Amino acid sequence: MTGRLVVLASGSGSNLQALIDAAAEGRLDAEIVAVYVNRRGAFARTRADEHGIPQEFVPMRPFLDAATDDRAGREAYDRDLADRIATHRPDAIVCAGWMHLFTRAFLDRVGVPVVNLHPALPGEFPGAHAIDDAWAAHLDHGLARTGVMVHLVPDEGVDDGPVLRTGEVPIRPDDTRETLEGRIHELEHHLLVEAVGELIGS
Ligand code: GAR
Repeated sequence: MTGRLVVLASGSGSNLQALIDAAAEGRLDAEIVAVYVNRRGAFARTRADEHGIPQEFVPMRPFLDAATDDRAGREAYDRDLADRIATHRPDAIVCAGWMHLFTRAFLDRVGVPVVNLHPALPGEFPGAHAIDDAWAAHLDHGLARTGVMVHLVPDEGVDDGPVLRTGEVPIRPDDTRETLEGRIHELEHHLLVEAVGELIGS
């Protein structure tokens, strides 16, 4: 049965595009039923619009402003987002460049697997700047490889959880930060489709 996916993105959405293309070309038996973004200008919105996928910008600021502290604001945001997502009855939620750390309030409420993509190998360079961090390690002490992982999000850990797919990306002597990033994204686009396909049994 065709899997229903909700995709969360904060930026360009090239990984969202990889899922859209794989579904359109029959390589992934999935329908992307909605896209949510937390940054107004995220190009992922345009990609969704171009393919007729409902998309919505849900900013966190109003939830933080209304709450007594940061944690309460994040939890209120997560509950609201989980409720919006539930209206689409997804089989899985895919964080494809989603720059927001979920609280348990989200994970407990959604009741379906949450998948995250990260441009580093398990246990290396968590956070929003993994490619910069790997590049800095290359320049500093000759790090010769980095990688990509796709994993489940079971708890509040940052870019951590049961690994679905992982792949190494060599850092070549003639690489620039940009050529390295290009190869990382190429591998991401491939591994994300594979991992999501296996998860939803397509
Ligand atoms: C991807 O490289 C993804 O792995 C990364 O954001 C990028 C989004 O690219 N995610 C993280 O760093 C999560 N910690 P995209 O918007 O072109 O898909």
